[in-house]
Amino acid sequence: MFHLLEIPKKVIYGRGSVLFLGGELKKIGNKFLILTGETSLKRSGALDRIMNEINKHDLEIIVITGIPAEPSLEVAKQICDRIVGNNFDGVVGIGGGSVMDMAKIIAFTLKTKLNPLEAKGKEIEEALPIITVPTTAGTGSEATKFAVITDESSKDKFIIMGKALIPTLTIIDPELTFTMSPLIASSTGIDAFCHAIESYLSRNSTCMIECYSKSAIYDIYNLLPEAVLNQSEKAKERIAYAAFWSGVAINNTKTTLIHAMSRPLGGMYKIPHGIANGILLPAYLRFNAPFIPPEKYKFLKDLFQGEPAEKVEEFLKTLNLPTRISQIIHEELDLDFLVRKAWEAEFNIKNNIRPVTEEDIYNLFLEVI
Ligand SMILES: [Fe+2]
Repeated sequence: MFHLLEIPKKVIYGRGSVLFLGGELKKIGNKFLILTGETSLKRSGALDRIMNEINKHDLEIIVITGIPAEPSLEVAKQICDRIVGNNFDGVVGIGGGSVMDMAKIIAFTLKTKLNPLEAKGKEIEEALPIITVPTTAGTGSEATKFAVITDESSKDKFIIMGKALIPTLTIIDPELTFTMSPLIASSTGIDAFCHAIESYLSRNSTCMIECYSKSAIYDIYNLLPEAVLNQSEKAKERIAYAAFWSGVAINNTKTTLIHAMSRPLGGMYKIPHGIANGILLPAYLRFNAPFIPPEKYKFLKDLFQGEPAEKVEEFLKTLNLPTRISQIIHEELDLDFLVRKAWEAEFNIKNNIRPVTEEDIYNLFLEVI
């Protein structure tokens, strides 16, 4: 049996490594679009430092700041309208998952002139070179061929994917994550934790992917509280790398039931991705427990020192994260919509270690309300 390991072409990592960005861009081309968020990156002065360094390399750069959370088709169109007539050699995303995903969406759109909706369910084989510089530690977008996009008109949050969306270059500079708020650090950290666990328990897991998954599960479980609650820079650095490893893992296994169910919670009710995943994680572990291979269950039980579902719920509480939807959403949920949308994420459902029915999804949503 043979497997393919898909990872970004080049990865530079280490504290201060973002200063390699300009020189590396020069090796790819001359003209780049840079997207950034509305984040602390600007307030902390880090963005100015990065731009000063890039400007030493005689590059033509257009910067668009203020990319909002949760990429939407509408925002992607606005960006394309702003840059019409320019020919870029690549698109750079410096920010969290939303910014990196938007860089992928724009790189695809500029290259193919297609609406991302037309790529739904198809393998994307063409995009401009994508360069990612994560400033949060969790989404794993810096390692993956996926981009999540929301269609505001239908409240549909869907994925476009394909090997052309795997970054050509990823620079992981943990110092860029040091200024994350505790809430962003814990919720993005839990997203990475879910990537690691879901990839470990995915039907597509292999012995090589297990190495990435297990390292990430181990580090995040042991170090995320220290990174968030004690603001330990050493712990934050390891979490930045663990987020990348878990990104590599899901890039190769894809995510499973948690992500199928969390996507409509984000699309319809705007529950931040990591928070929605965290709420679903204990129920997911309880549901899958009878189907998890004994050696994998033992790894989790030994590491967590107890029943995985219960220990993970305690872990969420330690990080001051919600464990029920009703803690953050007070309106009545449209369960039929949630179940229908989760069920549509066929590729996630099929990867789940336990066969899943629509009724199972309904009951799992009920369990976490
Ligand atoms: Fe995720």
